[in-house]
Amino acid sequence: MPELQRLRADHAPALLAFERENRAWFARAVPDRGDAYFADFAVRHRALLSCQDEGTDHFHVLVADDGTTVLGRFNLVDISDGEAELGFRMAESATGRGLATEAARAVCHLAATDYHLTSLRARTTVTNLASHTVLTRTGFTVAGETAPDSSGGERMRRYAKALGGDVLRVY
Ligand SMILES: CC(C)(COP(=O)(O)OP(=O)(O)OC[C@H]1O[C@@H](n2cnc3c(N)ncnc32)[C@H](O)[C@@H]1OP(=O)(O)O)[C@@H](O)C(=O)NCCC(=O)NCCS
Repeated sequence: MPELQRLRADHAPALLAFERENRAWFARAVPDRGDAYFADFAVRHRALLSCQDEGTDHFHVLVADDGTTVLGRFNLVDISDGEAELGFRMAESATGRGLATEAARAVCHLAATDYHLTSLRARTTVTNLASHTVLTRTGFTVAGETAPDSSGGERMRRYAKALGGDVLRVY
């Protein structure tokens, strides 16, 4: 079974490969990271680990059975007052198997138990039905929608989840 691992320095090569190989796939659903992200990947990876050490964010990768290949990433970012934002993305080749739902549940469990958070929020475009499915199956409820921005961008749907006794179902 794929394993959810807390982000480490030695994940860098596999994480970069994951982002490169799935760049076009991700860009269909979320804004492209831009060329600078790939050029400066090593610096950025170290910065993420510093944030993690400081406790402002918790990053995770879903690692395949081969022990190396990154299949997905599941992050808790912008932690403040016991709340964090959940973000995730899966390699195209690993989708449709329930893995994102399993990993999101596992991250919610970690958020409550190891990170002592009390609530999570998430957001996605209103047309991202796969993300909506993962979030609702993980216990998030719709908290509202943003109006389209002036540049004609898509409406975003906001989600929230309180971390209590109902989140401790882990697969
Ligand atoms: C969203 C994402 C993480 C889902 O990953 P996944 O591993 O396929 O998710 P799961 O298999 O756990 O669940 C997805 C569910 O949504 C369903 N789904 C997928 N696309 C769908 C669509 N266009 N319409 C309706 N349902 C859809 C799947 O069938 C599945 O439900 P099922 O188990 O009943 O078949 C993945 O598609 C992804 O990384 N997309 C690109 C980046 C992204 O959108 N990230 C989220 C930003 S908020």
